[in-house]
Amino acid sequence: MEVISKISQLRERLSQLRNEGKSIGLVPTMGALHEGHASLVRRSVKENDVTVVSVFLNPTQFNDPKDLERYPRTLEADCRLLDECGADIAFAPSVKEIYPEPDTRLFSYPPTDSVMEGAMRPGHFNGVCQIVSKLLSYVEPDRAYFGEKDYQQIAVIRRMVDDLGFKLQIVPCPVVRQSDGLALSSRNTLLSDEERVTAANIYRILDKSRSLGLTVQETHDYVVGEINSIPGLTVQYFSIVDGDSLADVTSWDEAPSVVGCITVFCGTKPIRLIDHIRYK
Ligand code: PAF
Repeated sequence: MEVISKISQLRERLSQLRNEGKSIGLVPTMGALHEGHASLVRRSVKENDVTVVSVFLNPTQFNDPKDLERYPRTLEADCRLLDECGADIAFAPSVKEIYPEPDTRLFSYPPTDSVMEGAMRPGHFNGVCQIVSKLLSYVEPDRAYFGEKDYQQIAVIRRMVDDLGFKLQIVPCPVVRQSDGLALSSRNTLLSDEERVTAANIYRILDKSRSLGLTVQETHDYVVGEINSIPGLTVQYFSIVDGDSLADVTSWDEAPSVVGCITVFCGTKPIRLIDHIRYK
């Protein structure tokens, strides 16, 4: 696997490969890679001739400097994992390389980017759109792979890709979970062993809520009440939304796809965990 840190070198290498008729898959990441990322990389390797994985902790999508500071940085281990998964190129640029000047571009795709994470973390999706649009323009991939764990992020990126007219296929990939149901996340490494066990209740309760035959409001109240009753867990929001537009729904018939998106604070630090469940 080649490790490239300069945009010019990445572009040159990819243009050679494209001229040889090779298809290109991109897996954007912020590093601290785990089995969830590995599943995206393996899928890209299967579906494309060349797989590029970007490893870039993007500062513009962090609205909380403490969150950025404590985000795990593990480039050496990341490169080992990528090599094992069969990635061809790891693109690991510096912040200066990506943002020689502050990025002042503004992206706005309401309600997709203004609800839930967009409301809780102002500027977050703007930062995501800034970096993903840059990566797409450097790599010009045929396909880009994103984990469905960040369900809202995929919806926002789809809007941006349509808006800017990028020609590629966005490939959403299923959440990878521990055997107890906890969604894999780079942030899980910040949890103690005990907190990890507690955190597994989030998915257990979400999953159970599908089988109770409740209305949308009752389902909302059940999930929030059950999770908040567990010491060490506090729901920040739980929204039951149209799976495409992410607008709130009040009945199950209101949209062809309905998804519950949740954010929970776990433990004493506390660590913010995101998950979702598909109702239909
Ligand atoms: O999902 C992530 O890890 C990040 O938001 C992404 C898409 C790599 C952009 O920095």
